[in-house]
Amino acid sequence: MRKTNKKNFKKTLSKFTTGVTVIFAEKNGQVHGKTVNSFNSLSLNPPLILFSLGNYSSSINTFLNSKYLTVNILSQNQKKFSDHFSQKNPDTKKIKFLKGIHNTFFLPNCIGYLECKLIDKIKKGDHIIFICEVLRVKSNDKLKPLNYYNSNYIK
Ligand SMILES: Cc1cc2nc3c(=O)[nH]c(=O)nc-3n(C[C@H](O)[C@H](O)[C@H](O)COP(=O)(O)O)c2cc1C
Repeated sequence: MRKTNKKNFKKTLSKFTTGVTVIFAEKNGQVHGKTVNSFNSLSLNPPLILFSLGNYSSSINTFLNSKYLTVNILSQNQKKFSDHFSQKNPDTKKIKFLKGIHNTFFLPNCIGYLECKLIDKIKKGDHIIFICEVLRVKSNDKLKPLNYYNSNYIK
């Protein structure tokens, strides 16, 4: 084994296959989305999830100040959304969002959805861990997931 440096740390982490989510926060009626694969389940009772965002992210203040967040679990055919929401300040005008009950937004045709209340934020290293209580969920058994491995999308 080698001593950890940034390059071999990132490379080793990339061998862990994940799904891909787009997580939305809301500020003054405007939706802010980020592509996130650090999403994970945390607790079944109560239902909790977590994810982490870089403290350098252009959207970090919107996420920190959001009361509600939504998780969109992407399906195989939604790579375009992953690419789009990993850009800085992605344009959202052309996207036909679905609306949740807490002035929240969702992407159409995802494999899974979670409408969440932000309950805790923990600063660690150069990221912030967001912990959310899950209020409402929906999933689609007919779609297949988009997966991410070795810094690439896999089907
Ligand atoms: C598949 C994928 C997964 C990502 N997962 C995360 C993540 O879990 N946390 C994070 O901070 N950034 C993640 N990113 C990077 C962000 O989407 C975004 O590119 C980054 O925050 C820089 O943009 P910003 O400064 O506008 O936030 C991911 C990008 C991709 C393509």
